[in-house]
Amino acid sequence: MKIGKVALKSNLMLAPVAGYSDYALREMAYGYGAGLCVTEMVSCKGLLYNNQNTNFLLYTTDKELVKAVQLFGSDPLDFYNAIRLPQIEKFDIIDINMGCPVKKIVSNGEGSALMQNPRLIEKIVKAAVDGAEGRPVTVKFRIGFETGKPTVVDCALAAEAGGAAMITVHGRYRDQFYSGEADHSFAKEVKKRVNIPVVVNGDITNKETLEDVLNYTECDGAMIARAALGKPWIFLELSGKKANVTIKDEIIKHISLMLSYSPENLVVNNMKKHLCMYAKNLKRGAKAVRAAIADLKTLDELYKIVERCF
Ligand SMILES: Cc1cc2nc3c(=O)[nH]c(=O)nc-3n(C[C@H](O)[C@H](O)[C@H](O)COP(=O)(O)O)c2cc1C
Repeated sequence: MKIGKVALKSNLMLAPVAGYSDYALREMAYGYGAGLCVTEMVSCKGLLYNNQNTNFLLYTTDKELVKAVQLFGSDPLDFYNAIRLPQIEKFDIIDINMGCPVKKIVSNGEGSALMQNPRLIEKIVKAAVDGAEGRPVTVKFRIGFETGKPTVVDCALAAEAGGAAMITVHGRYRDQFYSGEADHSFAKEVKKRVNIPVVVNGDITNKETLEDVLNYTECDGAMIARAALGKPWIFLELSGKKANVTIKDEIIKHISLMLSYSPENLVVNNMKKHLCMYAKNLKRGAKAVRAAIADLKTLDELYKIVERCF
């Protein structure tokens, strides 16, 4: 599969997931065969005001086969200027968030709020494409802002007119947040209507659901979010390979990777969330993990919990 001029090794992708799709998880997912892994969403305004928190989110190395950053905002000029910053120059692909349902984001006219305004979408994508100077710009949508009012086909056509190189469709409306079942009929419709690659997203959890969704929608690729949290080796399973891993080894690898670019206190804090996700894959003992991390403060304690609970 190709996104603009960027060739991917696989059409299976790790979705942007705020608080989780950090560099460590992305490197692991690439190692298990993902073709594209995207950073969590990063604010254009935050970048332009040099917010230090964004540096951690933008960490990458050449071990990422393809470097993809997701940006959010609502002003075309902000996208243009943010994409031209040196921190963003190292990324091969720029993805634009047009699906975030969170109130704080939507009330600023960002994320899924943009799906009410295809004309603005075209302007934003155009500005991003100008700023990206040949690097592909992609867009991630939901079905629409309000249940029963699908706008994704018009939005995808607007994004394509603005120069987008790929569209992802998460099969839910904004007001559904993450509840209900994903409806992939709109990804299928978008695939029929645009001439750029279309990626389907939502509720893909194993090889069977992946095959069903790809057969039904005829989309070019699939993006996985929640099923890959605490299970980066899912990309092996999705491509029909057996994963010979132990959860404990994976967690140790995750911690070591994080330590290579973050201070200990940040690693301990971020690993709390990841441990809860890894615990989902334990046959029993997930409750004990949640109880153990409540008072977790140091790296030493983190390793002890991993040893004891996994
Ligand atoms: C905790 C959480 C954080 C998320 N953060 C982002 C984000 O930063 N950018 C984005 O485009 N989507 C984000 N999403 C949405 C996912 O990328 C994905 O579209 C959604 O979870 C459906 O896919 P899934 O069923 O495979 O989880 C987030 C989802 C969750 C659960």
